[in-house]
Amino acid sequence: MPIMRLGHVQLRVPNWEASVDYYKNVLGLIETARDEKHVYLKAWDEYDHHSVILEKADSAGLEHLAFKVRYKEDLDMYEQKLQDYGVVTERIAAGTRIAEGEAVRFQLPTKQYVELYHEIEQIGNGLPRENPAPWPDGLKGMAPPRLDHLLISGEDVEGTTKLMMEVFDFCMAERAMMDEENVLATWLFVTNTPHDLAIIKGPDAGVHHIGFYLDNWNDVLKAADIIGKNNVPLDKGPVRHGITRGTTIYFFDPSGNRNEVYANGYITYPDFPTITWTAEKVGEGISFFDKDAGERFTTVFS
Ligand SMILES: [Fe+2]
Repeated sequence: MPIMRLGHVQLRVPNWEASVDYYKNVLGLIETARDEKHVYLKAWDEYDHHSVILEKADSAGLEHLAFKVRYKEDLDMYEQKLQDYGVVTERIAAGTRIAEGEAVRFQLPTKQYVELYHEIEQIGNGLPRENPAPWPDGLKGMAPPRLDHLLISGEDVEGTTKLMMEVFDFCMAERAMMDEENVLATWLFVTNTPHDLAIIKGPDAGVHHIGFYLDNWNDVLKAADIIGKNNVPLDKGPVRHGITRGTTIYFFDPSGNRNEVYANGYITYPDFPTITWTAEKVGEGISFFDKDAGERFTTVFS
């Protein structure tokens, strides 16, 4: 699989100072660089220079998401595959993003921009490569070890799902139905998690949440305490998902972008048979204990 992982997301944050402080000290990412309009951050156990870029902006939302590909030649290969599929592509020059090489950029049928890149500076995870301790000192807040996935929204869920599966060899772990025929949402993977990218019916170019990984359910409960201590707007949780079997909690950054910290979930392989959630059981799929996702969870996007 030439796509190695969801490499980074670039988020628009209108409430600039408070958002930068929140991502560093409450969520607990590490700042690695900044320029006038951007702050670059990484989760502690990632080796690459950044996985989240905050952009000073007038409105919240997702500027783009980006996948890291295995080899530099994969950029040419995917550029050709996208053009053959009928998608317009452009090249983003090396150095446009700090510490990052050239990228291929295109737009999904659900209107989000996606970039593919290979080159990025590796700065390490704060631990030696010989005889490392299990975690470094000085972590703050929830301190997720890594970015995990995101849920994007748009009208053409089927179109984005098909493109990701046909051009990039994503597999479908799960889908939720609106009725017998129409799909509400899909959960797609290219690594071995239940989802690297999920897509749900909603506003075009929208993002429902950005998900960060935690090691276990206790860490999700500790994240709930951190949410309480810092008066972070809580959305939903702590709960278990029926979908993916993850344990999770959702909350909002100071700019109104929804974040999730998530643990567990099953392992997938390319031969994983797709799970379907019927329309009347979607509430249970999202929130297994109380079977109710809640109105805010299903209606608020950024
Ligand atoms: Fe999620």
